[in-house]
Amino acid sequence: MLEALRARYERDAPHAPFITSFTNIVFGDGSPAARLMFIGEAPGEQEDLSGLPFVGRAGQLLERMINAMGLRREDVYIANVLKVRPPNNATPTIEETRASAPYLYEQIDIVAPEAIVTLGLPASRTILATEESMGRLRGLWSVFRAPSGFEVPVMPTYHPAYLLRAYTTENRAKVWSDLLKVVEKLGMPLPKRAAGD
Ligand code: URA
Repeated sequence: MLEALRARYERDAPHAPFITSFTNIVFGDGSPAARLMFIGEAPGEQEDLSGLPFVGRAGQLLERMINAMGLRREDVYIANVLKVRPPNNATPTIEETRASAPYLYEQIDIVAPEAIVTLGLPASRTILATEESMGRLRGLWSVFRAPSGFEVPVMPTYHPAYLLRAYTTENRAKVWSDLLKVVEKLGMPLPKRAAGD
């Protein structure tokens, strides 16, 4: 079903009015039966080249975070709001987001995760339809209601690229505490080590 959605995305090319210069569509990666889904902003350079989300430096940190939760990358599903790389990694515009979001909502429907972690402000705002700041959103459970009626709890946290830029003990502790709430929600064993360690 994800394949059919991807084929429809490729046919519709909702990015076409905005982004014409890219290498690969970066649709999503991971288990279609994942209990947990991570949603980022848009592909960067490495993702554009490989066709896979979160494979660059931020992706490596995300994978360490996933592992610290006691999971493997293959256990979760990873997607972005935008499926193609914006020139110069520009922040997605409202129009770009509006054009791409319906495909993300369908991706969520198909994977039907038990929880979503939104990474950073653009993903959190897109999923939660809010204008709140990251500082206010992170660490608190919200609910995403898909147009289909499907509902899933959402934990917003800082984007790993932000964490790399501001790799402080405080920020790492905040992200780790956000992720522990997800571990708890999913009823998984509580890991002992801190994310990024
Ligand atoms: N940042 C994102 O938001 N998504 C990616 O896939 C890579 C970096």
